[in-house]
Amino acid sequence: MRLILLGAPGAGKGTQANFIKEKYNIPQISTGDMLRAAVKAGTELGLAAKKVMDAGGLVSDDIIIGLVRDRLTQGDCANGYLFDGFPRTIPQADAMKDAGVAIDYVLEIDVPDEAIIERMSGRRVHPASGRTYHVTFNPPKVEGKDDLTGEDLIQRDDDKEETVKKRLAVYHEQTEVLVSYYGKWAESGQPGAPKYRKIAGVGPVDQ
Ligand code: AP5
Ligand code: ZN
Repeated sequence: MRLILLGAPGAGKGTQANFIKEKYNIPQISTGDMLRAAVKAGTELGLAAKKVMDAGGLVSDDIIIGLVRDRLTQGDCANGYLFDGFPRTIPQADAMKDAGVAIDYVLEIDVPDEAIIERMSGRRVHPASGRTYHVTFNPPKVEGKDDLTGEDLIQRDDDKEETVKKRLAVYHEQTEVLVSYYGKWAESGQPGAPKYRKIAGVGPVDQ
């Protein structure tokens, strides 16, 4: 199974990825998680990316496409993959199409902007695994601790209200266009075209 999870920041891509990757036994390829790992490791890429991420902007297409290309060569992608937060621009989507990277389904998680700010302010993350919680909507079993490892949860640097607003604006300017990009491709019925499903992301997590 080869999937793209498309949706605004805070729509619940990472949350739903957790279920999907288990069900299909496929790796979650989150460009956001990969960039945060580079930031933590203090690599040159990480230092450059941190400035852009903290400002709510997008890291350059060349860097992101290179990261994903490398990731796809790893053996665990043989059974499929789940893209989370990628592609995010037309050049990124075109790069995958041109490289013949197959996609079975594009799942759009639809959540109105008003709900996003509340979600982000309560989000807590286990940095090592990317597992995501919410203090009210999806709380960990023990406050401030990851369910599986018991390690500390943190708040993401880019979850400040001002940054979230910027990220939402960037989503509407640069990423939302992928809704029609993949929607039209799916409707074309061309060989290799993905199927497209829009899912309401406002219900409880397990729904
Ligand atoms: P990235 O990490 O991809 O962030 P994002 O797209 O902004 O999405 P989030 O991770 O914030 O949200 P999510 O949809 O995963 O929601 P979650 O499940 O956590 O990217 C970060 C940055 O890296 C970007 O800003 C950019 O700078 C850079 N970057 C990454 N990829 C890039 C690319 N391809 N190109 C260029 N730059 C790139 O849920 C959010 C909260 O809501 C959680 O607290 C959760 O518990 C809660 N929640 C989830 N579902 C529900 C529900 N149904 N009801 C109530 N609460 C819920
Ligand atoms: Zn995420």
